[in-house]
Amino acid sequence: METVLSGIRPTGNLHLGNYFGAVQSFVKLQDAYQCFFFIADWHSLTTHPRPENIRQSVKTILAEYLACGIDPEKATIYVQSDVIQVAELYLYLNMNAYLGELERVTSFKEKVRKQPDNINAGLLTYPSLMAADILIHKANKVPVGKDQEQNMEMARKFARRFNTIYNVAYFPEPESFHLSDKALKVPGLDGSGKMGKSEGNAIYLIDDEQTIQKKVMKAVTDAGPTHPNSEKPEAVANLFALMEIVSSQDTCRYFNEKYNTCEIRYGDMKKQLAEDINAFCTPIRKKILEITADTTYLDQVARRGAQKATESAAQTIREVREIIGFRP
Ligand code: ADP
Ligand code: TRP
Repeated sequence: METVLSGIRPTGNLHLGNYFGAVQSFVKLQDAYQCFFFIADWHSLTTHPRPENIRQSVKTILAEYLACGIDPEKATIYVQSDVIQVAELYLYLNMNAYLGELERVTSFKEKVRKQPDNINAGLLTYPSLMAADILIHKANKVPVGKDQEQNMEMARKFARRFNTIYNVAYFPEPESFHLSDKALKVPGLDGSGKMGKSEGNAIYLIDDEQTIQKKVMKAVTDAGPTHPNSEKPEAVANLFALMEIVSSQDTCRYFNEKYNTCEIRYGDMKKQLAEDINAFCTPIRKKILEITADTTYLDQVARRGAQKATESAAQTIREVREIIGFRP
């Protein structure tokens, strides 16, 4: 059976972009594939978080994964730093990763521009750690957003290179995976671009009803269309795009018609959108709160995940050591 794997860095709460762009597909895939979903806490060290922040964010993401419907009976859910074999594979991959190619990665260049005071080796070798995450379970399919395409290219390159150097057909070349034919981009409601934590425009799954209502009512729009069937400016198109994601087809059709006949009242549309987002988020929020309070359960899930992921990783490392010429 093919193996699916993906990870999310624990850098805060999950938002609608994370859910519809990534976590929703994890939930769907767990019924059909052998799945590994992990919390990429080693990756988050590039920004030097405090120990108490790491502990808190790992717990938060774990609870949110579970509340979204990732089922520890079906998928292996684990914390990256619990599986030390990943670090060993990272070391091996780094020996065949070259400075030039690592320096050319767009997200690295961006970090160099954004945080010139902290250009550490972890940032530079982010693609080899990500490749180790994937190759340690010999994953075939990796559900990630478009922004991860270059890292995926690197993972394939490192897999191929290992196979070539040792003249083996050992690692499969992992491919990105999207549920639909196009990667989904959840827009922000601030006029342009995507929803994101660092964009400061996110609606979080944990947000309460008033917070969500306030955020949606503040969404950027315009004065309204003046000609029938006119094209929507980006901010308005984003509002509609979000509605497509969370509301019923009838609702979307209704407001599209109102737009096309120039009768739209954005206030009404936003009220409906806020209601539909709340209908989606409220049950998840309740579950997040419930699961977060159950520390014993969270520990148990993490422990069980660590055990299952370690078994799979240890097998790979045994074989890799043998291929390289070490004692297995
Ligand atoms: P952020 O920093 O905005 O929370 P990350 O970069 O940590 O998001 O992304 C985690 C996962 O969520 C990735 O797979 C990414 O592709 C997906 N993702 C994040 N934002 C969006 C969005 N607005 N639309 C679709 N997918 C998204
Ligand atoms: N780089 C991914 C992100 O920023 C997170 C990640 C780390 C990941 N290792 C991975 C995703 C392995 C998929 C597979 O979103």
